[in-house]
Amino acid sequence: MYRTNNCGELRLAHAGKEVTLAGWVQTVRKFGSITFADLRDRYGITQLYFNEELNLQLDANPIGREFVLQATGKVIERTSKNNKISTGDIEVEITSFKILNAANVPPFTIEENTDGGDELRMKYRYLDLRRPTLKRNLELRYKVNRSVRNYLDKLGFWDIETPFLIKSTPEGARDFVVPSRMNQGQFYALPQSPQTFKQLLMVSGYDRYYQVVKCFRDEDLRADRQPEFTQVDCEMAFVEQEDILNTFEGLFKHVFKDVKGVEITEAFPRMTFDDAMWHYGNDKPDIRFEMKIQNLKTPVNNTSLAVLESTGFKVFVDAETILAIAVPGASEYSRKQTDELTEWVKRPQIGMTGIINIKCNADGTFKSSVDKFFNEEQQKEIATKCGAQPGDLILILAGAETRTRKAMSELRLELGNRLGFRDHDVYKPLWVIDFPLFELDEEANRWVARHHPFTSPKPEHIELMNDLSRYAEIKANAYDIVLNGTEIGGGSIRIYQRDLQEKMFAALGMSKEEAQEKFGFLMGAFEYGAPPHGGIAFGFDRLCALLGGQESIRDFIAFPKNNSGRDVMLDAPSAIDDAQLKELSLKLG
Ligand code: AMO
Repeated sequence: MYRTNNCGELRLAHAGKEVTLAGWVQTVRKFGSITFADLRDRYGITQLYFNEELNLQLDANPIGREFVLQATGKVIERTSKNNKISTGDIEVEITSFKILNAANVPPFTIEENTDGGDELRMKYRYLDLRRPTLKRNLELRYKVNRSVRNYLDKLGFWDIETPFLIKSTPEGARDFVVPSRMNQGQFYALPQSPQTFKQLLMVSGYDRYYQVVKCFRDEDLRADRQPEFTQVDCEMAFVEQEDILNTFEGLFKHVFKDVKGVEITEAFPRMTFDDAMWHYGNDKPDIRFEMKIQNLKTPVNNTSLAVLESTGFKVFVDAETILAIAVPGASEYSRKQTDELTEWVKRPQIGMTGIINIKCNADGTFKSSVDKFFNEEQQKEIATKCGAQPGDLILILAGAETRTRKAMSELRLELGNRLGFRDHDVYKPLWVIDFPLFELDEEANRWVARHHPFTSPKPEHIELMNDLSRYAEIKANAYDIVLNGTEIGGGSIRIYQRDLQEKMFAALGMSKEEAQEKFGFLMGAFEYGAPPHGGIAFGFDRLCALLGGQESIRDFIAFPKNNSGRDVMLDAPSAIDDAQLKELSLKLG
């Protein structure tokens, strides 16, 4: 037996007991003939006390950081207690020990806060994973996984595996492909999601399916994107949108309660896609705080606040769109602070030429960066339209619709951060519904599916699919679940009839032959009794990160890739040897 106890469980009540612990040496502190060492394992840290008078031969067998040690001794009360750790009342007076394995000096400190840079920690991920921060994240991940499974199991969902070596599933990213040795010159694609398989399972009659499953997407990486990530993928048959929203709202409430002890009793708000864009500038609104966007002039809905253009101020006259937010309590921003905001919106990522501010002073007067053009009365009119209160700072962006709306959305979030409105411990989920069926890919100048091509249009909009000029108006039975400004899941009610699916592929510019070649298997299945069905998939890594109070998913994945899609520990991807290339009949260009 290597150990009688773990390093996190000994308390004062164990005093006098003889124990054996095994773990990693975190620190060694020597004071003359006395040495203290902290021994760490997954469960915690216990202080070991080596009294050289007991002839322990520590000098002959020196221990260092990260050595794997087995130590036996008696639990005793500590003279100076450490209330930072759960075992802080005791220490173990060692009578014998054994070095199970020596260790090189680790390249960074393995403690709550480390001195190791990102790349170094990724290279030695197995050491980084010893740190309490990462350990807590992985523990949380495990608990979320367990909680999700328990909930779905109770509702009769079955976990059914689907293959990884498949044919392309269009989810909007590039595929990772795998060459086939047995079928020379041909490739499998790794699934971007199990979308078509879960639909086929519905055709097969497995009406409640789920899977915690790896998905692979070759896309540009960001803090909340990994090339391989995990989805909780779900599908149900004989359901309408309402059934799906209720079932999975229940799942979220269960997980919040189970994992975080947070009880959400009220129904999740539902916001249409159009409203989300209008009031928040994006389709994943962070509703932890208000500061809604005020639409002072925009081609959408033909809105215009006449006063803005009445003075001939060119920036406003020329603008397609003028948007504002009223920032609470910011009227006392200094010149330096407003100048800094100007710089912020001018950064290439935001791409605006400037920003206009109106200070709504506490005494009811106004002061603006465009005082020359707008008198007090006019500024007051703008302020009233913005719903601004005395003490607020109104920020206005003007320019082309898409860019300006995006910039305002970013600015709102940035100010939300600066003003402390985006508290990680507050959870504000909502459903965004009524997404457009199509979106215009401006680069390719063609319409693409906003969710994926298996999403059904609202029945009353099917007709519009015959008229290209009305594509933008078509809404889908599609929904996203958004938590604190992050899209954590998305799904839809599916097309389940061959003719509508054919119509959809045609609308996306696919020829009949191409549609048949790529998705004939699915359309064929629709001809053998496909039930009405729908589903949803959650980004499991994103959900875990948010529950852990962070935006980056990387540290909630045991072995993630870096921003260039590399595993720096394995040094992958890497070249393969000529023999392998030959076997696969591949030639590098
Ligand atoms: P979608 O493409 O919206 O839907 O993906 C579902 C959820 O997966 C998460 N996600 C990601 N997480 C980390 N890294 C990525 N690269 C990444 N890409 C997506 C997001 C997203 O909301 N088959 C459909 C679902 C359905 O219709 O049922 C699908 O995959 O949180």
